[in-house]
Amino acid sequence: MIYLKTDEEIELLRESNLIVARTLAEVGKYIQPGVTTKYLDQIGEDYIRSCGAVPSFLNYSGYPASLCISINDVVVHGIPSVNQVLKDGDIVSVDCGAYKNGFHGDSTYTFRVGDVDEKVVSLLRTTKEALYLGIEQAVEGHRLGDIGHAIQNHCQKRGYTVVREMVGHGVGRHLHEEPEVCNFGKRGSGPMLKSGMVLAIEPMINMGRADVEWLDDDWTVVTEDGSLSAHYENTILITESGEPEILTMY
Ligand code: MF3
Ligand code: CO
Repeated sequence: MIYLKTDEEIELLRESNLIVARTLAEVGKYIQPGVTTKYLDQIGEDYIRSCGAVPSFLNYSGYPASLCISINDVVVHGIPSVNQVLKDGDIVSVDCGAYKNGFHGDSTYTFRVGDVDEKVVSLLRTTKEALYLGIEQAVEGHRLGDIGHAIQNHCQKRGYTVVREMVGHGVGRHLHEEPEVCNFGKRGSGPMLKSGMVLAIEPMINMGRADVEWLDDDWTVVTEDGSLSAHYENTILITESGEPEILTMY
């Protein structure tokens, strides 16, 4: 069932998601060559807790950290480590969740480390554009498939591929609620979108082939061909006005 949030619940969701947005901005200040992903995780966790929230991911199905930090060919769920040092030219996605007053927030941003190749900048730009084209479709009366279609169409037009194994999701009292928000799909397909729905839209887009594989830690997802992967995520509210409200922004 897709749960429609009440005004009171939306107010709490605004707060949790705002904390996530601020955490990503805070972590972003520390991203530079030489920094370990473990250090960034600590910055993120401290900031989340300073807001009176709890990291949503910590201990989620046994996940051992507060953030997911995924470098280059790591698609998602990179586990922060003292052995992972950012270097010039890397791209690094930071995925953050925060839980407060019974509600979650969820957002991801892919940062550049130092000087990044123009081709890689294009991958990032296209993935971010795709996220916003998807968000544009998050309007009452549209269907869920319209979101995935907009994302897929934009990325494939540029020669990139869409990861299919992981998807976006509803957000609320649980980090992952119905519906699954695919980053591919058919226009006009799937459930009707209604005001009060809160969705995390999160395209994961590869420069090479779409296939992914899991590392032995059972978390880290990498591209099978070693190609670079970008990931952006916003949690949004479908409104009566027709204009989606991005909750993970300020
Ligand atoms: N934002 C990610 C997602 O929506 C993070 C989940 S990672 C986990 O799936 F550690 F919490 F599992
Ligand atoms: Co998510």
